Amino acid sequence: MASKRTPRTTSVRRKAHATKRSPARAARTARRADVLAILKDDHDRVKKLFRRFERMKDGNAQMSQLVEQACRELEIHAMLEEEIFYPRIRERMKESELLEEAEVEHESAKHLIQQLKRLDADDPKYAATFSVLAEYVQHHVREEENEIFPRVRRARMDLVAMGEELQARRKELLESGEFAATGMPGGMERESIPRRDRDATHYRDVARH
Ligand SMILES: [Fe+2]
Ligand SMILES: [Fe+2]
Repeated sequence: MASKRTPRTTSVRRKAHATKRSPARAARTARRADVLAILKDDHDRVKKLFRRFERMKDGNAQMSQLVEQACRELEIHAMLEEEIFYPRIRERMKESELLEEAEVEHESAKHLIQQLKRLDADDPKYAATFSVLAEYVQHHVREEENEIFPRVRRARMDLVAMGEELQARRKELLESGEFAATGMPGGMERESIPRRDRDATHYRDVARH
């Protein structure tokens, strides 16, 4: 008897299930376009490349490919922050010295990237320079995520609109061909990206535009 369901019961259950699911979907949609989530996604992707680099032995033929990918990712990310994120939040942040510091750190990272572009992959300084860049960027990312992002979140800005603006600019940069050597964001080979990352927000959003 308990197994028999009336159509009414079924429809009520379906409705309850749909109601339960939709707020989560709405939250996922909101998170997708939130500028802080997008920037964090970028950070996580580069940190994964740093970890892969740490596991590599000297003389690994794929090292220069990985270094180039990371540098492209970082150049695009820095450009998006400097053109869109930092100027928008500067208006609302009381502690502007945090942004000054962040911009100085970007300059130092870009300087190391330029040095890497001039070095041959078999130069003993190549891996050392990338290691310094990785340390530098990880410090910078920690400050952004721990110091800047929480303040931006509290400033009650339209982070979704900012996220959309940032992704539109990213698309423009990638389509310009200046960065996307392989046609993937940041010049990444699609198959070299783990499936979980391939399905990540960033790639879906870029593809959708
Ligand atoms: Fe930054
Ligand atoms: Fe960042």
